[in-house]
Amino acid sequence: MNLSTTGGDHLPADDSFQLHMQKLPVKDSSVLETLYGLGNGHMGIRASNPLQGSQSNQDGQPGMFVNGFFDLSEITYGENYPGFPQNAQAIAELPDPRYLIFEIDGERSDEVAFDVKSVDKNLDMKTGRLLEIFEVISPSNKTIRLTMQSFVSHDQPNLFVVTYSVSATNFDGAVTIIKQHRYTNRQIDNSNDVRADQQTGQLERTFIDNQTTAMLLTTRKSQLSLLIAFQPLDGLDQLKFSIMDELPSYGRTFDLTAGLNVQFGFVYSVGDPHPLMDMSLNRDRYAKEALDRTTSQTFRALYDASCRQLDAFWETSDVEVGGDATLARGIRFNLFNLYQSAGRDGLTSIPAKGLTGAGYGGHYFWDAEMFMLPFFTYTQPEIAKQLLTFRAATLPQAQQRARELNVQNGVLFPWRTINGEESSAYYPAGTAQVHINADIAYAVDTYVRVTADEDFLVKTGFNIILETARFWLSYGHFAQSGPHRGHFVIDDVTGPDEYTTMVNNNYYTNRMAKNNLIMAAKYAKLLKQQHQDLLERLGVDNAEINDFEYAADQMVLPFDRDRRVKMQDDSSMAKPFWPIDKTPNNQFPLLLHFHPMILYHYQVNKQADTVMSDFLFPADQSTDQLKRDFNYYEAITVHDSSLSRAIFGVLAHRLHLAGKAYGYFMDTALMDLTNSQGNTDAGVHAANMGGTWLSLIYGFGGLEQERGTLNFDPKLPDQWTNLTFKLKFKHRFLAVRVTQTSLTLTLLSGTDLSVFFRHQPQRLTLNQPLVISLIETT
Ligand code: BGC
Repeated sequence: MNLSTTGGDHLPADDSFQLHMQKLPVKDSSVLETLYGLGNGHMGIRASNPLQGSQSNQDGQPGMFVNGFFDLSEITYGENYPGFPQNAQAIAELPDPRYLIFEIDGERSDEVAFDVKSVDKNLDMKTGRLLEIFEVISPSNKTIRLTMQSFVSHDQPNLFVVTYSVSATNFDGAVTIIKQHRYTNRQIDNSNDVRADQQTGQLERTFIDNQTTAMLLTTRKSQLSLLIAFQPLDGLDQLKFSIMDELPSYGRTFDLTAGLNVQFGFVYSVGDPHPLMDMSLNRDRYAKEALDRTTSQTFRALYDASCRQLDAFWETSDVEVGGDATLARGIRFNLFNLYQSAGRDGLTSIPAKGLTGAGYGGHYFWDAEMFMLPFFTYTQPEIAKQLLTFRAATLPQAQQRARELNVQNGVLFPWRTINGEESSAYYPAGTAQVHINADIAYAVDTYVRVTADEDFLVKTGFNIILETARFWLSYGHFAQSGPHRGHFVIDDVTGPDEYTTMVNNNYYTNRMAKNNLIMAAKYAKLLKQQHQDLLERLGVDNAEINDFEYAADQMVLPFDRDRRVKMQDDSSMAKPFWPIDKTPNNQFPLLLHFHPMILYHYQVNKQADTVMSDFLFPADQSTDQLKRDFNYYEAITVHDSSLSRAIFGVLAHRLHLAGKAYGYFMDTALMDLTNSQGNTDAGVHAANMGGTWLSLIYGFGGLEQERGTLNFDPKLPDQWTNLTFKLKFKHRFLAVRVTQTSLTLTLLSGTDLSVFFRHQPQRLTLNQPLVISLIETT
């Protein structure tokens, strides 16, 4: 393909931004579809076989996902208790916009499978452009080379752009090319894996008129609609619009001579989800907007605009590791995917699988706030703000949920959701994870402390912190008798470890709730000075502030005095240990092989739980205490959740266990590129990708917040030459470079900033790099 006609000037210089298929250890096509998925927070498109469509005689899982576009399906319970969620939500799997139909010798690729003989792909993460080459064989043995270039726009979130170049390699003759969307749903995947997708609803499709491709997709039960339209790109060979197979289509028959190629392309407008009623009233306007967006567009102009936005992303958010090119690429892949996945319209968040697959139903979990938000807060605070705004927008549903659970004050956020309502059918590992409340409050507090965005605190953030704090006072209580008598206890909850459920005083939950209560009191006092009206409007008075403080102060944090280890919960230490060493490899993850009650019987952790609070609150414990907690919990943790390793890695680093820290980190950083969890076909592990950033910055970079500013205490693994990253902090922008022997801090914009290095004050002045030696002198 002649790249210069389609924007070849952005061809990559740096190899570590290139994801070349030949260099990946994974060859499974469904996994590759995920890895090469493109997204921009609004939509995500799997990089599937473009000829597959809805044909189930091929093994790909093609599809497009639009953040926030989901359907509901009734949950059928054998025993339907009060307060159980009645509807499951699942992100809709939309038709693949890459889809193309060939017709050769009277046979169409949408009717009989054309074999894909070979595939090659390269994703340029610097520019967001995916280049793919497919060798396709028709049933009459005619071979075609199909080259595709595609990107989702980072400039106009509704646009997806794809070009095709087609040449005949072993024949001269006619090839008909058709671009149309005959199917609306891809085949439903009936998986036995509870983590995989849930049944999605059936979409309905209506074409707006006979003259354009504008089509309306509507969900049956959630009554949402979405407008999609596509038109040919200018400046390339043109396919002609006509009605084919009763569908608005583009098509053309080319007489191909072996060796010559034709090039054509399309731009898709994929609209925002709207309630059906609104769409019905404004349908023509939305259709016109979609068509206008796609009229007279060239690849070049759209691509250049998108690249500019992506340049800005890398400028603030790149992390460079020197000394290991494979790792450097893996890190960039993770950061790129976080950016590709994060909703930025204030109405959506980040699904657990990003926008790369239907795994976990496309739901948002605590993953977004606890694992991914820190990256955005420190490097793309506008996105962090939008993600928190989504939670604020769902406060009414969270309030309703608390009432459904008979909690008369405060709110309870859902464990898993798209629309703000609880979508988890298994409450012991779902609704009972009430720590979600404190997680969201924690993320708000971090955002406010990093950005100094007081306006957000006043208008949005404080209400979240307040309402979540109120929940604890209503849900927990002061123990009437027993060992915790007089202290604040929180019973019948599930912590992050989903192999232990419905326990009393889960350490992590209580510690986070304590933090939530302390913050509510702190911000209430702070805001009292200038925003008394706000406090009055929210009904906060001194008595309530005192209640928050008292409950926080009296919060039970279970501790085993014999072992001198934090207890996961009141009863955890009395249980027998699960025989991890004697469990065959093929019985992991345990959740797919054992009834939950068997797992609940033992001390066995799916993921970091108690040590997650050691990670978040480093000042809580001495190094010796951390060492005891780490050793104890590491021995009983099987890491069946992808959220686990990053946390253990950072703690290993803090304990100077260099080999272990490095091992955990490498598993984290390369998890999807090596498909080490075995289920990347269902989508990337987005929280783990956030965990990569946490490990780099909070771990090896040694970043902590201290006395209202930043403290650095970095230390690189021996395998690396340098680690470079940037941070935004309180209206400043700074670059951090760590080598084996030095730390260099450069203030790139903003006024002077005081920071700490190993708790010693340092001052940063604009553009005057501060170089600190890391060589310990004795
Ligand atoms: C983990 C949860 C996580 C969810 C979605 C589960 O396997 O145990 O902590 O929120 O996956 O990633």
